[in-house]
Amino acid sequence: MSNLVDLRIERVAPGGDAVARLDGRVVFVPRALPGERVLARLAPGKERWSRADVVEVLEPSPERVAPPCLHAERCGGCPWMHWDLAAQRRAKLELLADQLRRLGKVEEWPTIGLLAGEGLGWRTRVEWLAGAWRSGAVLGYRAPKSHDLVEVERCPILAPALQELLADMRGGARALPRQARSVQACVDEGGAAAFSAHGPAGEPLDARDGARVVRRRVAGVEMEFPLLGFQQGNGDLLERFVARVVDGLLPAARAEGGEVLDLYCGSGLFALTLAAEGALLLGVEADRAAVRAARSNATRLGLDSARVEVADARAWLAESARIPPVVLVDPPRTGLGEAVVRELVRLRPRVLRHVSCDAATLARDAGALVRAGWVCTRVDLVDMFPHTAHMEIVLDLELRP
Ligand SMILES: C[S@@+](CC[C@H](N)C(=O)[O-])C[C@H]1O[C@@H](n2cnc3c(N)ncnc32)[C@H](O)[C@@H]1O
Repeated sequence: MSNLVDLRIERVAPGGDAVARLDGRVVFVPRALPGERVLARLAPGKERWSRADVVEVLEPSPERVAPPCLHAERCGGCPWMHWDLAAQRRAKLELLADQLRRLGKVEEWPTIGLLAGEGLGWRTRVEWLAGAWRSGAVLGYRAPKSHDLVEVERCPILAPALQELLADMRGGARALPRQARSVQACVDEGGAAAFSAHGPAGEPLDARDGARVVRRRVAGVEMEFPLLGFQQGNGDLLERFVARVVDGLLPAARAEGGEVLDLYCGSGLFALTLAAEGALLLGVEADRAAVRAARSNATRLGLDSARVEVADARAWLAESARIPPVVLVDPPRTGLGEAVVRELVRLRPRVLRHVSCDAATLARDAGALVRAGWVCTRVDLVDMFPHTAHMEIVLDLELRP
């Protein structure tokens, strides 16, 4: 029996795959676009949904474009690269609005704003897989929904320094240990590239890499980040993103004693920008290396008013009888979660700015906060990850008397 099916694509799902229906069943179709008719090969499916791979696009969408990358068809890194950039952004805005309503269980949200930059050359932090050795290193990304390595020669979303590093490693001009199975690289001060090579279990092959830092100047503030710690990955949008995140927080804090709490502060990207503007800053972060970097940044910059504590956010809040009235949160993808939301509801900060890289967990948590009394005054989508369904979001909440 043929498993080829003729599908009309309805929309894209939050994960980025297109969605069609077949005999009442949902079919996820990676790399198809809304409105298209495609001939697709149906994978053996579960009861309520299945997956199908495009064999031929029978009626292409006017939004389909030639991807500006040699490897786009095989590489899993940029699953939306064949989609016009403006259309990708419209889709992200719709997905976010839908998730806020559905998962946030709140009908009315502000109209979502958009901050967007270049589609190519933006990536300042990257992880490559390293495979078998030829004349130089074989480097690349995972194939779609697989652990297989797709070798890449050029990757047009990379910042020039990382593209150069990739070429040098492939050509053997920059040495990579042969037992390397992955490489983490990022742009360092002055546009150079720094990297760390890792073995089969993810262990750094140079034990000193755990203590290495890279420097970046952001909004006029020179910051150090641990080479192996969290760093924002879009260098093109970074300044505008940080400006949006800190915008108005200092005047809000000044009206009430001047103190700002940055929960999940990492190495202090937002915290130190705020401290440099004059805020009394309290940062909380679980990762020791990030806290060391945040503290040494504060000392080097002479920002004596900034304090950073190593702690789990939930435990720290649970032990607090009061917190500053202006709070910034930027949790990992898993979001704040019920326990942190419960503590925030108990402590009732007047201004709560929620930064997130996951629309679903943000919608869940922000929805709970709105139902607990905060008013959402502004939401912006920051397109930090063009050509993928990923997005960064900044959402403002306020308690009104
Ligand atoms: C999305 S990053 C944000 C970092 C910082 N705002 C930045 O932009 O560089 C999330 C941070 O939360 C930290 N983190 C994860 N779980 C945590 C927890 N339970 N308590 C405190 N910090 C945590 C991670 O180490 C990471 O630095």
